[in-house]
Amino acid sequence: MANRIKLLNTLENITSIPTLPIVIERITLLLQNPKTSAEEVGKVITTDQALASKVLRLVNSAFYGFPGKISTITHAIVILGFSTIKSVVLTASFFDVFHKRESDATTFDLEQFWLHSIACGAAAQAIAKFLGSNDKEEYFIAGLLHDLGKLILCQYLPNEFNLALSNAQIKKCLFFESEKELFDVTHQDIGAFLVRRWNLPEHLQNTVLFHHDPNPSSKHFLMTAAVHCADIFVRALDIGNGGDTKIPEMSEYVWNSFGFESASLTGLLDAIRDEIAKATVFLHIT
Ligand SMILES: [Fe+2]
Ligand SMILES: [Fe+2]
Repeated sequence: MANRIKLLNTLENITSIPTLPIVIERITLLLQNPKTSAEEVGKVITTDQALASKVLRLVNSAFYGFPGKISTITHAIVILGFSTIKSVVLTASFFDVFHKRESDATTFDLEQFWLHSIACGAAAQAIAKFLGSNDKEEYFIAGLLHDLGKLILCQYLPNEFNLALSNAQIKKCLFFESEKELFDVTHQDIGAFLVRRWNLPEHLQNTVLFHHDPNPSSKHFLMTAAVHCADIFVRALDIGNGGDTKIPEMSEYVWNSFGFESASLTGLLDAIRDEIAKATVFLHIT
């Protein structure tokens, strides 16, 4: 308990933890008004030129299905729609604030971590399609952010991070079990804390908080369960690594409720591989 309070206090007081650009909040506000036009949203995005050029590069990648065909932000909004654009801006901003930060204080392989995060976003998106959901962009973001807490630990609390990593190796347990034992705080708690601080929606807080243990009675169960599966599938496919040497166990409840037992998984795993291949474009945005 004492460790938990100490770690959470330390975290509260780290003022250098990045904020998301103001553009995200302005877009979220604009999109709450059904009368908002593509031009208005386009204008807000182009106030940040660096972000706007990243958004253009992303929307022209194979991931969004219109490679090389979109020349302006307004055009992108008209073709892809508001929710896709919001997700592209959020993704680009997330990379902006974290991707280039190096940490010399740990041997953690950040390249593998980013690949794990992107692959998990892409896999969650493929699972959303498998489930017939229309919210695939939100699933992508949820998957992308699920291990955000590890990034904070690694970049801002490297001593605690290294301790949790080596304890997991010694005890041959999962990283979150090691965190729980040492600090009574996990990367799920830390990630959800940041998602809350960034004023991102409740379903993202929940997926980050419960991705290792989806709660069937939660109203965000489907998305959390999809991220839970995505996390395990990408590890099983050996794509990237979020810091665990073991593969987390799949919740039996999730497995049964998604009907994996009766469905052929081959098609889903192929779709996941395809989405991941397209999503690697995110690794190259600078
Ligand atoms: Fe995790
Ligand atoms: Fe993960």
